[in-house]
Amino acid sequence: MPCTVIAGGFWGDEGKGKIISYLALKDKLDFCVRTGSVNAAHTIWFEGKRYALHAVPGGFVNGKCRLLIGAGANVHVAQFFKEVEETGVKSRVAIDSQASIIEEKHSAQDKSSEHLKGLGTTGWGVGPAVEERVRRTAKLARDIPELKPYLTDVAMETNQAIDADKEVLLEGTQGLLLSLFHGTYPYVTGRDTSASAICSEAGVGPTRVDEVVLVFKSFVTRVGTGPLPGEISKEEAVKRGWFETAAGTSRDRRSAPFNFELARKAAIINGATRLALTKLDCVFPECKGMRVSEQLPAEAKQFIERVEEETSVPVSFIGTGPDALDLIDRRG
Ligand code: IMP
Ligand code: MG
Repeated sequence: MPCTVIAGGFWGDEGKGKIISYLALKDKLDFCVRTGSVNAAHTIWFEGKRYALHAVPGGFVNGKCRLLIGAGANVHVAQFFKEVEETGVKSRVAIDSQASIIEEKHSAQDKSSEHLKGLGTTGWGVGPAVEERVRRTAKLARDIPELKPYLTDVAMETNQAIDADKEVLLEGTQGLLLSLFHGTYPYVTGRDTSASAICSEAGVGPTRVDEVVLVFKSFVTRVGTGPLPGEISKEEAVKRGWFETAAGTSRDRRSAPFNFELARKAAIINGATRLALTKLDCVFPECKGMRVSEQLPAEAKQFIERVEEETSVPVSFIGTGPDALDLIDRRG
């Protein structure tokens, strides 16, 4: 899959980090380009350790993968350095000199705005930081002295990598239903989260992309306020094994059964060529840890078939446990 975009299909937290880490190892990713900002936490289990990454691209699990942060991204300098240290990627991570900077004042503005509080934002300040960028008064990565050694031209590096047939992954954040354009406005994040926007933030044209992998969890979760069709109570979620807390903010995640209609919409708008279905073991516990399709129980197979029928996109990856390699790869 030379140039692949990874996008979320619902309200984020679908398990994009897990799919990225699997591809990084299995497909030997050469480049992984992160977009978005610190509001998103991508959870990755690697060698028995859990990482919740807000800045460093998920491809870090492959020690040979170049890690880039695109021009459209919005960088929290302290969080970036904290994660570079934690993941030990100093020699292979870089930021586009035009990425914008999110500062403490943005977080303070986010937390003190009644309107933003009402939307249940993460409080990192991404909305106010993006506002400042739109006003063209934001600081960029090139304005921060500590970032000097890390600056690069991400669009050029990435396009050259695609020209050279390297394995390139563009890492999206959140999910389609949190998109500023296509989501449940005003209960959305401060940017478009669709595959096209991910390309745009990285600086890669639509004709250069080979695959769009759209990630769904086998049930739906949402943090913050806004509609969630078919929402179940926290008690019921606990009973079903679906109750989660947010990797970034520790807030309770609300939950609902898988939504075929919304999945179809997300597949269309993202132009998905493949789907990933994570946490199948939380809906069908017998699937836990399985790594081959044939073993799946009939009920789970029926569910996967229905997802494929309703979206007209093949389910190529099935998550059966937290580790990067707890996965059924159906690419054949
Ligand atoms: P903001 O992105 O912090 O402005 O928050 C706006 C909405 O997006 C809130 O409902 C947040 O809970 C949600 N949100 C932002 N980032 C994530 C994420 O990474 N996962 C899930 N929800 C998110
Ligand atoms: Mg998350």
